Amino acid sequence: MSSSSSMDCVSSKDKEAAADPPKAPWWTGETVAVVTGANRGIGLALAARLAEQGLSVVLTARDEARGEAAAAAIRRAAGPPGLGAAVRFRRLDVADPASVAAFASWVRDALGGLDILVNNAAVSFNEIDTNSVEHAETVLRTNFYGARMLTEALLPLFRRAPTTSRILNISSQLGLLNKLKDPALRRMLLDEAALTERDIEGMVSRFLAEIGDGTWRGRGWPEVWTDYAVSKLALNAYSRLLAARLAGERVSVNCFCPGFTRTNMTRGIGKRTAEEAGRVAAGLALLPPRDLPTGKFFKWRTPQLYSKL
Ligand SMILES: NC(=O)c1ccc[n+]([C@@H]2O[C@H](COP(=O)([O-])OP(=O)(O)OC[C@H]3O[C@@H](n4cnc5c(N)ncnc54)[C@H](OP(=O)(O)O)[C@@H]3O)[C@@H](O)[C@H]2O)c1
Repeated sequence: MSSSSSMDCVSSKDKEAAADPPKAPWWTGETVAVVTGANRGIGLALAARLAEQGLSVVLTARDEARGEAAAAAIRRAAGPPGLGAAVRFRRLDVADPASVAAFASWVRDALGGLDILVNNAAVSFNEIDTNSVEHAETVLRTNFYGARMLTEALLPLFRRAPTTSRILNISSQLGLLNKLKDPALRRMLLDEAALTERDIEGMVSRFLAEIGDGTWRGRGWPEVWTDYAVSKLALNAYSRLLAARLAGERVSVNCFCPGFTRTNMTRGIGKRTAEEAGRVAAGLALLPPRDLPTGKFFKWRTPQLYSKL
């Protein structure tokens, strides 16, 4: 976490370990994994994979009926009642402070804590070849502020024992630094020693203000899926800061970009299935403690520079 590109390369050892869960699991049926936005797409596939691996999975979704149905489908696929997967549904809208607070209280009171958090929930209102910024505020509120709000609410509840707890932020290479053309913002985000959360918030506020007054074009913001890309840029930067903040505290923080995956977000277009992406994400969430990095950006299983200058 000390170099100028701390979400930097993962080693080839990490790469192999991410492919499949380890042979001798470090987790038990008591290990609690929370997955957000898990009623469909990559989140659903990831929750199913974690359940298949025998963890106690909390599948969350903002819609009660869709979430219940998704959890029931995982249980059905896993086998007869009693022998099936340990998946429970809990409602959680990551963009709603009251919902996040209620969820954190439930994790504390009903579960006594958690071990893995996957911030997967996100929105995009862009078509593949369009660049709408009409819903920028919702996109930032969900993809960046929502993930951060939930993370901060759950941080005191990570058990951190017997192994390191994990936060995996499902991000995107659209939020890598090479997509940002504004030299001052790039400098700011690269200066790890000086970067603060307030700087990241300032960047997001400036972006939203420019969207509001219509001056955002030509200001060096990412050109593809601009609002979504800024949300992931902010999430990546926050992940790096959080990883540094938690160094030595037995909570790792990493990002994962699944690449172009066939889900609702891409209107069913992409290079791979949600199941493939969910499987790789689960492999990263379950990395053996000795192989578990922090402050890394995983692009699929390929080592990737956070900054990609
Ligand atoms: N698909 C890709 O090519 C791709 C590439 C790079 C990164 N990603 C990332 O992968 C993750 C999963 O995306 P996906 O492709 O699986 O998309 P998806 O099928 O659209 O799933 C997104 C999920 O997020 C949920 N969600 C949205 N807003 C929420 C909120 N406020 N609170 C709680 N849940 C909310 C959705 O719930 P509803 O059903 O209620 O809307 C849905 O379950 C996202 O972080 C995305 O940015 C995807």
